[in-house]
Amino acid sequence: MLVDLRSDTVTRPTDAMRQAMAVAEVGDDVYGEDPTVRALEEEVADRFGREAAMLTPSGVMATQTLLATLCERGTEVICEDDAHVVAYEVGAAAILAGVQFRTVTGDAGRLDAARVRGALRPDSFPYTHLGAISIEETTNRGGGAFHGIAVLRQLRAIADARDVPLHGDGARIFNAIVAGGGTAEEYGQVLSAFSFCLSKGLGAPVGSMVVGDAQVVDTARVWRRRFGGAMRQAGVLAAAGRHALAHHVDRLADDHANAHHLAVRLATDVPGSVDPDSVATNIVYVETGATPAAEVATAARDEQVLVGAMGPHLLRLVTHLDVDRPGVDRAADVLTELLRP
Ligand SMILES: Cc1ncc(COP(=O)(O)O)c(C=O)c1O
Repeated sequence: MLVDLRSDTVTRPTDAMRQAMAVAEVGDDVYGEDPTVRALEEEVADRFGREAAMLTPSGVMATQTLLATLCERGTEVICEDDAHVVAYEVGAAAILAGVQFRTVTGDAGRLDAARVRGALRPDSFPYTHLGAISIEETTNRGGGAFHGIAVLRQLRAIADARDVPLHGDGARIFNAIVAGGGTAEEYGQVLSAFSFCLSKGLGAPVGSMVVGDAQVVDTARVWRRRFGGAMRQAGVLAAAGRHALAHHVDRLADDHANAHHLAVRLATDVPGSVDPDSVATNIVYVETGATPAAEVATAARDEQVLVGAMGPHLLRLVTHLDVDRPGVDRAADVLTELLRP
């Protein structure tokens, strides 16, 4: 059987999720009349202790609606070098939100107070104005690391002192919550506004959520419409999201345990390939040594194991709902065979 470790976005809806989608009550959400979307948005806002939430079709759209809402055009956003919003959104922030980035080299994709302070420009003409500080939780290219609440509080204090928001691309915020980064309420409190994805570790087929103050979410609704992301009978998707939040949060701990197991196995069998201590959640980066990562990925595919080549000698393996422990062990067997010098 195929073991697909390329990303936690590859999950397919479970039978129970499909059933929830099939029976969802729907209405026209552009009129604000879809009861399932409304229920999801209320549940999410409550869970994080915030005033409002909004469903978007994708994580990129959630981030872009928020940056457009939070930042004046022509301002700059401090974020990490390898942040998704910089690396993988094909210039959306420049074109759609109208902001530029001031990137900072972090630690495993994470910012900290010292690094951010070092990137602040004077708050005077003609320096570019700061629009927001943006963090990613957990870090994708940083290997699933998380900042945790204590660091985020320090970043929020810097943001507050400059009167700008602390924005969160919380695509995998529930992985951080389950791994002990903080509670949902704490994340809800420390981040000025943020998004998270239903379609990654939580296993929904489509959807991300924007979370924040009512006024911010109201303005984000305007931007979502401008970006073409206001949907009609979106309740079928919201039902998948509600199901995911009810049934797929606690089980993220299984994904973390599987990722750690995979890392320990590879570190044992192919010394130097992985540092298991760097695996905080569900993402494992593997050094391929002399063999090009693309070559390993192609050979693994022949053995029905899919992995992502993320650099010339770097693979990414992501555990998720559709990969169990025997699958992880099979992937470890195949990769050990390919990577052993
Ligand atoms: C950290 C992070 N932010 C945002 C996104 C964007 O999500 P989507 O692909 O659903 O637009 C991703 C997707 O992998 C991600 O990893």
